[in-house]
Amino acid sequence: MSLAVADLCKRYGAVEAVAGVSFEAAPGAILGLLGPNGAGKSTTIGLIAGLLRPDRGSVRIAGRELGGDADPAKRALGLVPQELALIDELPARVNLEIFGALYGLAGRELRRRCDAALDAVSLADRAADPPRQYSGGMRRRLNLACALLHEPAVLLLDEPTVGVDPQSRHAIFATLAALRDAGHTLVYTTHYMEEVEKLCDRVVIIDHGRVLADDTVARLVAAAPGGETLTLDYEPAPDAAAVAALSMLPGVRSAALEAGRLVVSCTDIGAAAPRVLEQLAARDHHCRHLESRAPTLEDVFLSLTGRSLRDP
Ligand SMILES: Nc1ncnc2c1ncn2[C@@H]1O[C@H](COP(=O)(O)OP(=O)(O)O)[C@@H](O)[C@H]1O
Ligand SMILES: [Mg+2]
Repeated sequence: MSLAVADLCKRYGAVEAVAGVSFEAAPGAILGLLGPNGAGKSTTIGLIAGLLRPDRGSVRIAGRELGGDADPAKRALGLVPQELALIDELPARVNLEIFGALYGLAGRELRRRCDAALDAVSLADRAADPPRQYSGGMRRRLNLACALLHEPAVLLLDEPTVGVDPQSRHAIFATLAALRDAGHTLVYTTHYMEEVEKLCDRVVIIDHGRVLADDTVARLVAAAPGGETLTLDYEPAPDAAAVAALSMLPGVRSAALEAGRLVVSCTDIGAAAPRVLEQLAARDHHCRHLESRAPTLEDVFLSLTGRSLRDP
């Protein structure tokens, strides 16, 4: 089922937490909702899930507008909240049974779904243990499993990998990719651009409660003004005059020394790279190390906002 939100707005006093957010998430795809802390991601998710009442705007599932709390269409939604919602003292399986019961599951069907959810997040062998004996990553995985019991067509995930180990992140990503391939609609909220680049079919970038961009990662990166970046270590490092001369070369947008390394932003790396190397070699600088980096979503965010997406 598709999920479409239109002109969602939510204000807290003077703060416009969500200021006219619209996007559409398609079945069989993972939509990334990317933005720095405070961008309005959790508020958006809360508005979609019905935990918060919007000042304005609508949420549609499969084309039909969601009504109030009692709307049966809400059963199609699953939510993995940013704050863990687990009972620490009870075994993982009992946690799942409680969530399943909330969705009206019982008996054999409840047991089957608990087994499937535990398998999906690779916790079957720890089902008898309470979450207080779990690592942070395992808790995150159980938090995800709780949202899968009623097999929601639309799954909302709010920063589901914060503080997890690489193994748990991998397990979570594998689960989400399997859900995508089975035709579910996923909205994946994060402030990690690497996660979006790796996992998401499409990304909505938000900041200050507004949508700044909505496209595939490949198209956003291709349209960003920044090209490839060359980073070089020289012995001895070039002086300011030599660096300034590099920035005049064809294919070079700018050149600067950053922490002793030469960083060259290129409009055309094929034209820039040989000329930079040649020019510095002619001045008796020896290149010790060289790497190039393709533009990323970080560059896209920087070009859209003038700020970095990373935590300060
Ligand atoms: N219950 C609340 N009361 C007042 N301000 C809030 C509340 N919840 C969120 N905000 C504010 O709304 C903005 C968006 O918050 P949030 O949606 O949690 O962002 P994100 O999830 O992207 O980090 C922030 O400025 C935050 O301080
Ligand atoms: Mg949040």
